[in-house]
Amino acid sequence: MNLRLLVTLLLTMMFSATAQAASIYAGKAKAAAVCAQCHGIRSTSADAPFPPLAGRDKEYLEMALKQYRDKTRVSDIMNNIAGSLSDRDINNIASYYSRLKPYN
Ligand code: HEC
Repeated sequence: MNLRLLVTLLLTMMFSATAQAASIYAGKAKAAAVCAQCHGIRSTSADAPFPPLAGRDKEYLEMALKQYRDKTRVSDIMNNIAGSLSDRDINNIASYYSRLKPYN
């Protein structure tokens, strides 16, 4: 294997690792800045009417946020919030919350 190929491979690996980690960090920042006001971060028993998000299924969270965004699920608050989220934001936030271990 020549050196240039090796360097290219290593750089590709580094960049893809960073890109993956970045989505969790971006999700964390967004969760802390926006979602935590109502949902908390790790609480399982956040005050009603705010359902807990930590440790929930990633696909479920994504689906719920997309439904709020296109208003097939109705909630004045969440329709507003999800309306400004991109697919990437939703993916980042769902990745972040789904990986958290909730408090018991
Ligand atoms: C101002 C308060 C508030 C903020 C901020 C907020 N939410 Fe919500 N969220 C709610 C309420 C109230 C509900 C329950 C709505 C309903 O009955 O569908 C809800 C429901 C949800 C649900 C559905 C949960 C389930 O069990 O089906 C998800 C997912 C969710 N929010 C994600 C988020 C995310 C991600 C953010 C940050 C980008 C966020 N929320 C910010 C108030 C808020």
